[in-house]
Order: sequence, then structure tokens, then C-alpha cells
Amino acid sequence: MSIFAHLPRHSLAFLPTPLHPLPRLNAWLAAQDVAAEVWIKRDDQTGLALGGNKTRKLEFLLADALAQGCDTVITTGAVQSNHCRQTAAAAAQTGLGCHLVLGGQPPAGPNGNLLLDMLFGATLRWTSRENRLVRLAELRGELEAAGKRPYFITYGGSDAVGASGYAVAVEEALAQARERDLTFDAIVFASSSGGTHAGLVAGSWALGSDVPVIGISIDEGEAALQEKVAALASETAALLGFPRAFVPREIRVNAEYLGAGYGVVGDLEREAVRVMAQTEGILLDPVYTGRAFGGLLDILRHSPKTLARSGTAPRVLFWHTGGAPALFAYAADLG
Ligand SMILES: Cc1ncc(COP(=O)(O)O)c(C=O)c1O
Repeated sequence: MSIFAHLPRHSLAFLPTPLHPLPRLNAWLAAQDVAAEVWIKRDDQTGLALGGNKTRKLEFLLADALAQGCDTVITTGAVQSNHCRQTAAAAAQTGLGCHLVLGGQPPAGPNGNLLLDMLFGATLRWTSRENRLVRLAELRGELEAAGKRPYFITYGGSDAVGASGYAVAVEEALAQARERDLTFDAIVFASSSGGTHAGLVAGSWALGSDVPVIGISIDEGEAALQEKVAALASETAALLGFPRAFVPREIRVNAEYLGAGYGVVGDLEREAVRVMAQTEGILLDPVYTGRAFGGLLDILRHSPKTLARSGTAPRVLFWHTGGAPALFAYAADLG
């Protein structure tokens, strides 16, 4: 019985997602004299619309929307937002309307996540970054005036309700590790709007897990992300019924791999995407998991002891958070 069974939840995902070793990747590392045992948690396989971490958040967000009697969801993100694509799919599956406010200009030919947003029947609006909040408020007003009951899902689905999906996910992963008699030295993943990170931190606390949870920052400096995740983890812990105030210095963030900025694909991401594809037949994405896994490879090559809790060969769980539909939109950067 889950300690989180009291949380209202609307089922969208096929769970548990697989957790498995990466033998050919580990052999590839060993051939470079890198001693490590990397495992993977496959949240690219959550089953909703090509998968990804937002499915877990949406199970709790849509439960909240339905409990409030809402009939439409509104959310926002970048042109290639995985969050918007999964929200559009979840809304379609649940029979809710979906309005997406996307940053930038409509591209000439829709591709990747944007194409899927359209296939799921979402209504799209475009805005500049500066105008995003105004546009969202206008949209909410327009929908209410038309007699709709909109539910606003924050950027990345990263509020305490959404983040609780990742607290529940910790319970799932720890049970899978226990079945295999495994303990991990660290859990490593991509961290951006902070909901995944906050949920993993709050869930680890509630479950008494001491496995370090290390977010590779995608687009923010260390201090800013630590502060954001600490605040959200505290709110999430309260919502879970295990209150605790987290402080920024407790939050493990590695912001060494920001490269040339959000969505700018460099050699780090290109190598990571290729290595995972060619050793294990698993697709990473160019923006999030490519950067996070590239960071993990770099840490394993240059400072593996920072991950090992005992001995020198760390056993690491890389949490795959999805995103592969964006690969097609980044073809020119990856080819
Ligand atoms: C594929 C993928 N991985 C990781 C993240 C980061 O998750 P979070 O926003 O919860 O920090 C995102 C966010 O959009 C994502 O799309």
C-alpha cells in the first residue's frame, strides 16, 4: 500500500515504468577506463503520447482540475514543449478542452511536439516571453466569458500538485530497486522548472530514502535552481502530509552543463544522444535528457568519486524524463 494513496489521482500512465541496467553503455564506459554501473528509469515509456515526465505530474493536476469541475486546461511552454504535448494528449484522453500559449512565432512547418499538439486538437496561441502572463490572463478571461471553466497548469506542471507525481515515483523506483536487492549511489536527471526535482526530494524525505537526488540544470544557475526547488519541495512535502522546510543548500544541483543556453545543442548533447542510441537503442532528447546524460558522462569520466557513496565505482540511476519527439525538430543540429 502506497503511503501516498490518499492523494487524488487521475490515471494516465502505464506504471511502473521499467527500471533496468545499461550493460552495453557500461561496457563502453569500461573500455574508456571509467568504472561505473549505470541503470535507467524509463519515464520515456509512461505510455501517454510518446511518454515523458509530465505524465506523472498530469495524473495529479488533472485529478485536481476534475475535482474543481473544470472543463478546459490552459498551459504554456516553448514551441517544442514536451509538457504542452503531454498536456494536450492528457486533455484529449480525459475529454477536456486544451489551450496552449506557446513562446515565439509559429514556424513555417510544424514538427516534433508542435505537430503533435495540433494532432491532439489543442488550440494554440502565440506570445513573446514578456507578454506571456498577460496573454494567459486574457485567455482565461475569454474562456470564462464564453462559459468555460478553465484550469490553469503552471509552466512545466511544476506546482506542488504536479510535483507530487514525482514523490509517488520515488516510491515506485525504490520498490523496484528493493526487488533486485539494489541500492543506488545517486539518482541523476534533467532539472528545469523544478517539479521533477522537488517531487523526488520531497518523496525521498517522506519515504526515508537517503539516496542523493542530483538535478543537472538545463537552463538556470545553481543558486537560483536550488532556491526554486527548495521552496517547491517544501510545499510538496506539506501537500503529501510529511511537512518539512527544505533550504536551498540541501538541494543537489549541478549547473556545469548550461552550454550556450536553453535548447542550444552542443557537442555534449550530440555525444550523449548518439552514445545512448548506439549502445542501448534508447532515444534521449536534444534539450533535456541529452544535456543531463551528457553531464553524467562527464562526471563519470572526470569526477566519479563525487557520485560514489562507497568504493570508487558509482552505481547511478539515470532517470530518463522523455522528450524524444523533439529530436525531429532538431534534425539539423543532430545530423
Ligand atoms: C524531457 C524533459 N526532461 C526534463 C524536464 C525537466 O523537468 P522539470 O520541468 O520538472 O524540471 C522537462 C521539462 O519540460 C522535459 O520536457
